[in-house]
Amino acid sequence: MIEQTNTEAHIEAVAEGPGERNTRRAFLAAAGVAGLAYTAALAYPIYRYLASPEEMAMEATAVTEVTLKDAQKLPPGAVLMFKFGASPALLIHHQDGRWISMTAVCTHLGCTVQYEPQADRIHCACHGGVYNAYTGANVSGPPPRPLKLFKVAVNEAGVDVSRA
Ligand code: FES
Repeated sequence: MIEQTNTEAHIEAVAEGPGERNTRRAFLAAAGVAGLAYTAALAYPIYRYLASPEEMAMEATAVTEVTLKDAQKLPPGAVLMFKFGASPALLIHHQDGRWISMTAVCTHLGCTVQYEPQADRIHCACHGGVYNAYTGANVSGPPPRPLKLFKVAVNEAGVDVSRA
């Protein structure tokens, strides 16, 4: 039974049984964990935004090799976009059987480039830059430098891509 008193706290304490207290504690613990996860989810993009270009470059060069599991099944004429460290990259299986991998970050202003299989070229939609899909050479448009090539090793389990 609920005992009548002047304070709400006392009423609460008497009204709730031990099971309800545990439920409340579990709820508060879960809310705390959810709050931390939410804070981390908000803080990470802010950290990424504020990170200096030097930090970003160090982070990007820290990764030297990526294994793309099952990528050996990529049919000729197809491309696979993947992350090499923090940056997007391309793995192209050309019609002639050659495997080529390179960074997908345009050397003009950093947009992500795309492989166009019909034209067998790499195109940057931001300002119309074009690159050679075999060498990464900047062919036309504003890009000042070629795309950086990676080493490719195809095996039965996948494709290993590493810095050249
Ligand atoms: S960012 Fe690629 S052409 Fe300008």
